[in-house]
Amino acid sequence: MKDSVLDAVGSPLVRTASPEGATVAAKLEGFNPGGSAKDRPAREMVAAAERAGEISPGDRLVEPTSGNTGIGLAVVAAARGYDLTIVMPASKSPERRQLLRAYGADLELVDGDMDDARERAAEIAASDGAVEMGQFENPANAEAHYRTTAEEILEQVEGREIDAFVAGVGTGGTITGTATRLREAFPEMEVVAVEPERNSVLSTGESGDDDYQGMGPGFVSDVLDVDLLDSVETVALDDAEREARRLAREEGVLVGQSSGAASVAARRVAERIAQPHLDCPEAPDEFEEMLASDGGALDGYDDCPLVVTVFPDSGERYLSTGMFD
Ligand SMILES: Cc1ncc(COP(=O)(O)O)c(C=O)c1O
Repeated sequence: MKDSVLDAVGSPLVRTASPEGATVAAKLEGFNPGGSAKDRPAREMVAAAERAGEISPGDRLVEPTSGNTGIGLAVVAAARGYDLTIVMPASKSPERRQLLRAYGADLELVDGDMDDARERAAEIAASDGAVEMGQFENPANAEAHYRTTAEEILEQVEGREIDAFVAGVGTGGTITGTATRLREAFPEMEVVAVEPERNSVLSTGESGDDDYQGMGPGFVSDVLDVDLLDSVETVALDDAEREARRLAREEGVLVGQSSGAASVAARRVAERIAQPHLDCPEAPDEFEEMLASDGGALDGYDDCPLVVTVFPDSGERYLSTGMFD
């Protein structure tokens, strides 16, 4: 039995459609209590601020967020006894608003983008004495993924070498924290960032307009360690949503837009590094059989290039957008 829902943070690593001669596996972060990867930084940022004596239960927290960090913080605030104000662009999905309210958070919607939300949150912090967690600057954001996402992956690959790690970038916390830890274990591992095709700050230096929720903030966040990145893949929203539909219908994996983008990018990387001459097993059952039989076959499996990616949230959060219609 867990003492708190905050002890239930964690997610499975699941193999997804992979090209011949390679394996793609995704962390299904929708399994976290608040339904996204953001439960991890939310829990870590609050714990770090408590350790530093900056906040204690009963205080008010404020955060500008496109949704998932707000929901993660709302879970943590409810479980730890904080008041919470979330500032969010009005364009984000209604499910996000309803969820925030369900967890008892106060919600302020702003016209404009994340920059406008950030400005408004800073005003609230200055005038109300609310404490901002600052997911774009707070080292505890990446630290959460270093300490949990990456450690879970290392356990879940069961000794297999990881050849590439692919992740969408918003604050950069996921890719920075996870890739830093994974590189300690696999120094040759390739790190690939994913960003919106029409808002490709990392690839082009120019921001743009796009309708992705959570990925592509339109600027390079302080938390993102750009030196870690070997390359950047851009994915059009239409392609990401088509892939999310395919994942739901063909694999039973219901995920959001940025997960669709991560899946497209991870398969591109897998196709590039695949070794089709290797007899990589297609189905988990075959893997089990190999495990049970001789070690030679298992060695062969271990040689198959492995691409690990992150699916940040569940598709349930996007039903009203019509992306699954
Ligand atoms: C749906 C979704 N995808 C991707 C990301 C990007 O994750 P990170 O902020 O760790 O870079 C986020 C972040 O909010 C998100 O909500």
